[in-house]
Amino acid sequence: MKVPFNRPSLAGKELDYIQEAVSLGQLAGDGNFTIRCQNKLSAYIGANAVLLTHSCTAALEMAAILIGVEPGDEVIMPSYTFVSTANAVALRRGIPVFVDIRPDTLNIDEDLIESAITSRTKAIFPVHYAGVPAEMDRIVQIANRHSLYVVEDAAQALGSTYNGRKAGSLGHLAAFSFHETKNIISGEGGALAINDGSLLERAEIIREKGTNRKRFFRGQVDKYTWVDVGSSFLPGELIAAFLCAQLDELDTIGSNRMASWTKYDDALQGFASRGVRTPIVPPGRTHNAHLYYIILPTPEMRQKLIALLRQDGINAPFHYVPLHNSPAGTKLARTSGDLFHTQDLSERLVRLPLYPHIDSQLDYVIERVIRHLDALL
Ligand SMILES: Cc1ncc(COP(=O)(O)O)c(C=O)c1O
Repeated sequence: MKVPFNRPSLAGKELDYIQEAVSLGQLAGDGNFTIRCQNKLSAYIGANAVLLTHSCTAALEMAAILIGVEPGDEVIMPSYTFVSTANAVALRRGIPVFVDIRPDTLNIDEDLIESAITSRTKAIFPVHYAGVPAEMDRIVQIANRHSLYVVEDAAQALGSTYNGRKAGSLGHLAAFSFHETKNIISGEGGALAINDGSLLERAEIIREKGTNRKRFFRGQVDKYTWVDVGSSFLPGELIAAFLCAQLDELDTIGSNRMASWTKYDDALQGFASRGVRTPIVPPGRTHNAHLYYIILPTPEMRQKLIALLRQDGINAPFHYVPLHNSPAGTKLARTSGDLFHTQDLSERLVRLPLYPHIDSQLDYVIERVIRHLDALL
């Protein structure tokens, strides 16, 4: 049997909506489906406003422009993240400053943030790894004390909650991903949630190539002109139509994923006494079953498990390669303190296949993982 790590699938009306978009005669961005998606997302997240982008990467880049990252400005973030979190800052000639992660959630360790702050610090970019929210109350408190922006990298966290509030509603800005590996997908896709209302008008301008095109269409100006820096950050209507159909099925997709996640957890938790760590969700937080991982006792065991699963036809990849000692990271960023947990945990973590309707393959993966763990431990 072949089990991929991810298998993107239709949730319902994607093709109907794409057909409808074509019939409506607008395929460029900001049409009917874009507006529907944005309204659904802002109501769901509890954000002041949401703008669709063509990726989470684009949303993070918009965020870095919006908060005014300038050459030499520093942004504190985990090294245990995807390249886009750091690239957004580096593209503005800002400096990503990496601090270590907490060993339980693999999110930025909030206790290490304050010692990384300097007179050049502009913002904190927490990442909600595996859809488990970072310790946002503390992070926002620290940010307020030092007048910093908070931009949530919520790429993986659509639907997760922190003390009853949705991820993405907690920072000044938040970036989401609808890449085909995420819970809700449109192939490539993303969104910027804007909670600080004072940033909204400029966000619209930056997203539309630095023009006041949106204000023109609302009849607020009589012609549209180049008023600021910007780029083309908006997706076309075909992408939005696909996304809209996925958002219609948000709850069904979520509960299907949660059932698979829970099945993994029920089957593998018992290995804790033999040194295998399963995901930890601290009190006050809910997660969205974005990914299921286990942490092996040693890097060698992790590599052996990945190789054994590959022989079984199962693709179980690791995640993330830390950024601080990557070729670009050593040139474009700096670290604050020792990144022990980042290095240690990233070398021992493996992700297991998880996608809608994995069903029968799931039993096979669980059976193989248990068999290999029994042999390796
Ligand atoms: C934490 C994080 N940030 C950003 C991204 C980039 O998302 P996208 O592929 O939508 O640009 C990812 C992608 O996996 C991610 O995991």
